Amino acid sequence: MDNLKAIILAGGEGTRMKSKMPKVLHKILNKTMVDYVIDVALKCGCEDVCTVIGHKGDMVRESIGEGRVKFAIQKEQLGTGHAVMQADDFIDENKDIIILYGDTPLITAETIEKLVTFHRDNGNGCTIVSAIVDDPTGYGHIIRNAGGSFKKNVEHKDATDDEKNIKEINTGIYCFNGAKLKDALKNITNDNSQGEYYLPDTLEIILSKGSSVDAMVVDDVTEFFGVNSRVQLAEATEIMKKRINRKHMENGVTIVDPSNTYIDSDVTIGCDTIIYPNSVIEGNTVIGEDCKIGPSARITNMVIGDEVKFQASTGMDSKVGNRTTVGPYAYIRPNSVVGEDVKVGDFVEIKNSNIGNGTKISHLTYVGDTDCGERINFGCGTVTVNYDGKNKFRTVIEDDVFIGCNANLVAPVTLKKGSYVAAGSTITKDVPEDVLAVARARQQIIEGWTKKK
Ligand code: UD1
Ligand code: CA
Repeated sequence: MDNLKAIILAGGEGTRMKSKMPKVLHKILNKTMVDYVIDVALKCGCEDVCTVIGHKGDMVRESIGEGRVKFAIQKEQLGTGHAVMQADDFIDENKDIIILYGDTPLITAETIEKLVTFHRDNGNGCTIVSAIVDDPTGYGHIIRNAGGSFKKNVEHKDATDDEKNIKEINTGIYCFNGAKLKDALKNITNDNSQGEYYLPDTLEIILSKGSSVDAMVVDDVTEFFGVNSRVQLAEATEIMKKRINRKHMENGVTIVDPSNTYIDSDVTIGCDTIIYPNSVIEGNTVIGEDCKIGPSARITNMVIGDEVKFQASTGMDSKVGNRTTVGPYAYIRPNSVVGEDVKVGDFVEIKNSNIGNGTKISHLTYVGDTDCGERINFGCGTVTVNYDGKNKFRTVIEDDVFIGCNANLVAPVTLKKGSYVAAGSTITKDVPEDVLAVARARQQIIEGWTKKK
């Protein structure tokens, strides 16, 4: 949407979290609450976002990172109106301003787009998002005139008994005309029961200056769920998890047990992939079509092709090609590129290695700092010996090499094309093309030994 900016309030301490960390940095499915809100603001087309930071602001700023958003600093938390005043320079008179909160991470871009459309269609000076709730305790109440038009917002602590019964509440999310907001902020006071500068006090001011103010009532109250405690953090996680899982199912992914499947918000999964229970899919992972993931897979920042089976294994910061099978009980560590039609079997660890197409690493093997060609066969118990206690060295294994069981490949070392390594060998020198390398003591037979003993 054009001509739109957002201010995100993230200055509060969040004492009820009982945490060393500022509240907005607590995570829901591996993403901080404030990052959800920033992503939503950017998704609905805000050209610029300003985050108002205060309590442990440096930590918040460092976590968000430079470049994505602007920051305004609120040294003392004197109220939501005061917080927005700190972003006064950011408010553009010719643009609309959305107000969001770092501790209200479940808001969606669709709702904000609806709000802005409603706001512009009605030519309002400000549009509030309101909701009807059973228990309005603690919220700002929306007071309407007899005809139903918006009159004012009254905070619960300042409300009369009659007003306290009004179930239409202020969700705290607004779309303001920039010029009207800027002007109204100059006129609010802290003359109320909490001694705070209330942002909602701008509404009456805008109204009194002849602009229209209205509340857009929305149905899904979960979007405005604010997180104040660890219990609420878990509740928000549950809602987010359901929402993400539903999106994937609607896109053609089977999730066998959605209540035991944890998928981060930025994960992509192709159609007809099946996710079995107890799987955790994190970060920026991309999974292709027709895969079988889990049970009990943990996949972090991976790019996985089509028709991959990834069973009861862990993988991170790596790629796995089409039709490859991983696990059970495999561990793919960062910077690995596993090709197509590869087998990474049980108790296999791969780290910082390239594995060519059609290679089989079936069991009990460590492949670290290694460049493998295609169609290699690793015998059970192969170890690339990549570390001398000080430095790491690379192993190179060319196409069609066959490695017998229990071999040690002491790096730096190269096994040339088509070579064989005898079982039990400890290879310390390069192996030429098409040879058999045997590097172990010859077997001796001592006749009659048992009887003599
Ligand atoms: C606010 C609204 C209320 C609305 C409710 C919805 C006000 C005065 N009241 O009440 O009408 O129903 O939200 O949840 O706006 N913050 C700052 N700096 C401050 C004060 C607050 O950054 O000086 C941040 C807080 O960290 C928090 C958010 O703004 O994330 C809301 O502040 P809070 O004081 O909790 O407002 P509520 O009492 O919830
Ligand atoms: Ca308050």
